[in-house]
Amino acid sequence: MITYHKDARMFVLENGSMGYAIYVNDAGYLETVYFGRHMEDYTDVSCMRDAGGYATARYLVKSGADVGYADGFKADCAPLECSPHALSDKRGAPLIVRDGSGSYVTDFRYDSYTIEEGAPDLEELPHAHGENAETLDILLKDRTRELWAHLVLTIFADKDVLVKSFSVENGTDEAVRLTRAMSMQLDLPRADYDLVHFRGRWGKERDYTENIVVDGVQEVSSNLGRSSAEENPFVYLKERHATMEHGEVIGFNLIYSGNFKFRTFVGPFRGLHITYGINDEDFEWLLEPGDDFQTPQAVIAYSAEGVDKMSQTFHRFIRENLMTYAKNEDYKPVLFNSWEGCYFNFDTDLILSYLEDACEIGAELFVLDDGWFGARDNDAAGLGDWQVNGKKIDLKRVIDACHAKGVRFGIWFEPEMVNPDSDLFRAHPEYVLGWGEDELSLMRHQLHLDFANPAVVEAIYAQMSDFLQEYSVDYIKWDYNRTVAEHVSRAYPPERQGEIYHRLVLGYYSLLGRLTREYPDIMFEGCSSGGGRFDMGTLYYCPQIWCSDESDPAQRMDIQFNTSLGYPLSAIGSHVNDSKVAPYAAKAALALFGTYGYEMNPNVLTETEISDLAAHAELYRKYHRDIIEGGTLYHLRAPHEGNYMCMQCVSQDKSASLVLFMNKLKELEQFRFLKLRGLDAGKRYHNTLDGCVHTGEYYMRVGLNLSGGWLTEFSHKLILLTEE
Ligand code: DGJ
Repeated sequence: MITYHKDARMFVLENGSMGYAIYVNDAGYLETVYFGRHMEDYTDVSCMRDAGGYATARYLVKSGADVGYADGFKADCAPLECSPHALSDKRGAPLIVRDGSGSYVTDFRYDSYTIEEGAPDLEELPHAHGENAETLDILLKDRTRELWAHLVLTIFADKDVLVKSFSVENGTDEAVRLTRAMSMQLDLPRADYDLVHFRGRWGKERDYTENIVVDGVQEVSSNLGRSSAEENPFVYLKERHATMEHGEVIGFNLIYSGNFKFRTFVGPFRGLHITYGINDEDFEWLLEPGDDFQTPQAVIAYSAEGVDKMSQTFHRFIRENLMTYAKNEDYKPVLFNSWEGCYFNFDTDLILSYLEDACEIGAELFVLDDGWFGARDNDAAGLGDWQVNGKKIDLKRVIDACHAKGVRFGIWFEPEMVNPDSDLFRAHPEYVLGWGEDELSLMRHQLHLDFANPAVVEAIYAQMSDFLQEYSVDYIKWDYNRTVAEHVSRAYPPERQGEIYHRLVLGYYSLLGRLTREYPDIMFEGCSSGGGRFDMGTLYYCPQIWCSDESDPAQRMDIQFNTSLGYPLSAIGSHVNDSKVAPYAAKAALALFGTYGYEMNPNVLTETEISDLAAHAELYRKYHRDIIEGGTLYHLRAPHEGNYMCMQCVSQDKSASLVLFMNKLKELEQFRFLKLRGLDAGKRYHNTLDGCVHTGEYYMRVGLNLSGGWLTEFSHKLILLTEE
């Protein structure tokens, strides 16, 4: 898959579907001479290097000579893998290292390379894995200093994905400062793309946002300490007018849960310069002699056939090459969560009554959410004290009752936080972020623990592991309900405070990684005030993430649809709640296009509601694994484009398909043909919409006919197609 053509000084990364070529120029810079569909012959691609402009000239001070490079390298417009910094290329370097002299000049050039099977194992960071991969590691050396950088690219045989990262090593005998450490640079010879990103806020996560790629600089970023609800690290570029099925689309994501920055720059040569990685705002990393720094991995998915192919590639990559949950391929139980039913107000009897009634609607995993520990009767106290509040809940009894019924048991934690009103804070006020100021920013009455400090992580680990030794749990919901404000740690000297944002993320991974390794049978679900940390870093450990605290279809249909453009449905935590805008059947149908679960007071459900929900749980049990989790997702109608939202999943063997159609506004009758995708043209399928049997070709050419009748607000159709 990866070859080095010595004479042409060109690396070619190819998997028969996508190609990527890097030319090592005369100056030792890596020029990206091709990224696109598979090609048989790369001989001519170096023509792409020419964007006009002047070849780079240098003045050799000693000899007084004014010289250029033999191959006409143009430093200010050549598409590069790693632009230098503080030289004539001003587009924005991915790496900047300041040495003891104070100089910013950073000039990494080619030294050597290795090609290895598989994907690299990163010690402290979540990362891609898989045997079906090959990795090119290009070693770069700073022109004047003993500083080394590795540009590492992994290509996969069975999917159009490229994983990129840098690492920097200090081989000098003095400390240097890394003031920018992005994961990748990608330069494209055209800029006529639209940039799709997913901004939002609590309860409205991942709102579809499409901007044209503008001249100058554009950024999608988070500086909130978490990947955030405000912007998600998943973004994509689509060729103007590309659709779900047509056109070039290039998707990007970062295997990381903290601050990020996706930056585009379009300069006078109309090329597109992209850098992506850890946000450089307030970032600075001290590298002592011999130290190295590894950036998170950036993942690029390429599609020449529209948005859906890129989206499906990410789904498969995340499931096959990212997630590490040992039982990911097993059936995942229908989840019932206590939160929206009773919030903090429960006792043992109420929870047991919930369990009883949750079973009626098909629950197979019962989760006790916030409120079971310390003095946690509201959100102003208790965080940090992970001991069961025995006055409120007899947890052993609840767990035994679940297990006696054959129901699994899960529990809620928020390990990175503390309330000022907690025993932990009273005993260790120094455990929180900040220098010990007399004023700290409070969010939801909580302070952020200093997870950059391994002693703090250890203290929380000790509490959690004591709990897990005593109580047998099958699932943990890991919440994170505020952002980072004072990114200052008492555990580090002043010159290392630029490391704290990143060290907090490393602390999160170290605890989550340790617990998932020690308890491989426990399924961890990520959460962050709803979907505020929905990212690939978390998915490495947690096969699913609570998608949003907003479960009402009016908003949820957008949130789920948009999230599923970059993340597999199997990862999208979705529950039926008791909001009154839409009927249970609509909410259940939508939850089926996610992980499926409940979040309500089950004691007050009517007989009809119970049988409706139980029927959907049955659908989940029957079809979810093969069609939704293991199948291929097609986005048929985007809710941001009109009145409808429609998704379709097709099982791998194409024997069955589930279609969810929803509308927002009331609508009179009109032609509504829903052309399906991904079916086997020659197979005959029965559909549950009108009971007819047609060929796959018919469904894909003519479509399901939903024309008849009026649509009421937020009505839906859940249609199953099965091979006859
Ligand atoms: C925020 C989460 O999104 C909710 O589901 C719930 O777990 C609360 N936190 C509990 O405090």
